[in-house]
Amino acid sequence: MDTVLKRGTRRWTMLSSKVSNGFRKINLLQINPSVAILKGLNFTLPATPLTDMSDPSSHHPTCVHVNLEAFRHNIRCVRSYCGESVRIMAIVKANAYGHGVVKLCRVAIAEGVEYLGVARAEEALEIRREGIDHPVLVFEITPGNHVAAALSENIELTIAEPGAADAISATAAKLGKSARVHLKVDTGMGRLGLPFASAPAVIEEILRRPHLELVSVYSHFATSEEPDTSFAREQLSRFRQVLDDLGKRRIEVPIRHMANSGAVICMPEAHFEMVRPGIMLYGYPPARNLSEHFPVRPVMSLVSKVSMIKQVEAGTPVSYGRRYVAPRRTFIATVPAGYADGFPRLLTGRASALIRGERYPVAGTICMDHIMVDLGERTGCEVGDEVTLIGKSGAQSITAWDIAGTIGTIPYEITSLIPPRVRRVFKDS
Ligand SMILES: Cc1ncc(COP(=O)(O)O)c(C=O)c1O
Repeated sequence: MDTVLKRGTRRWTMLSSKVSNGFRKINLLQINPSVAILKGLNFTLPATPLTDMSDPSSHHPTCVHVNLEAFRHNIRCVRSYCGESVRIMAIVKANAYGHGVVKLCRVAIAEGVEYLGVARAEEALEIRREGIDHPVLVFEITPGNHVAAALSENIELTIAEPGAADAISATAAKLGKSARVHLKVDTGMGRLGLPFASAPAVIEEILRRPHLELVSVYSHFATSEEPDTSFAREQLSRFRQVLDDLGKRRIEVPIRHMANSGAVICMPEAHFEMVRPGIMLYGYPPARNLSEHFPVRPVMSLVSKVSMIKQVEAGTPVSYGRRYVAPRRTFIATVPAGYADGFPRLLTGRASALIRGERYPVAGTICMDHIMVDLGERTGCEVGDEVTLIGKSGAQSITAWDIAGTIGTIPYEITSLIPPRVRRVFKDS
């Protein structure tokens, strides 16, 4: 007999479990050690695991639709704007900004993207586990206990502080290889990197280690998407000074890179040999006002389905805190998507949802797993209708920028906070 669950002093023990007619019959016995047997329990569950991907109809209706053609289009936009000679590192950290890293890496590679960029060694290792052996750079400082795993998988590492160089070189020596490293210079972002003033001397010293192969020197902009470009230009000039000094020290830098989406669009002089676009590949300019300049298309939609419709009288409160009170007799739709699906609770009182090409207000507090939508006095909507929370429905659309703008954040946060419980469904043309 297997113990399947322990709760307090009680234990559930599985007496039997067998599959018949597609259902698993489970017979459980609850035992309280001090009182002996309390009761037995029989029930049935579908034999198919909940995570089975073969039957889309068995899945929860709240999901992210990922438009692969839009993603390809956005990569092509960057390519044609930067030119064939500039390499593209697709930034796919944080599950490709919430879009589904493995699938998007494959599409990016098929589109000719030369490099992948992730924040953490674990993210790069996940990519490798899926059989993707494309060049990939980790931006963060890789903890010592992850270095060996990363190097054995040919993952390229950032050196952003001199202390890391010894450990990386020693580990590479043990593995009998050279570590391909990218040296990061802090030119004003104030996050990671060798301080620009001392960077050339420090880089020269770091590269004395025998098992390090320099692949690139790079930096990161703090303000490249802002209308005032003065600080971004100052950062670029500091980066150039570092590169000039390295040249004087006869250090050959194979690749120089600095341009995130803001600089891809606004600072062509910062493209160097490689650019590092992130948010623009997912269809959003890094600042709202830049959308006219760059015709990228949103890749993600967040959708669900109406699970219940009821008619309520004027004065009926809806949702937690009774913040919404029906102003008239109206139909209320319940939709199984909430803040635990990445639809922020801060949108309460300010959100809308699209159904059958029409826009309706979200009524009352956004719950963890649900929202309610006020459909009005008369409705043609039905249970099962698709509800769009981000994306297009008929002529209406809600973008991640709309949501971000409403609650004072950026589309990066909206898309990357959609949790794993929301299934990603990849749509191709
Ligand atoms: C080091 C680095 N490069 C490039 C990017 C891409 O930036 P964006 O999404 O603004 O294009 C990021 C994202 O934050 C980053 O951390």
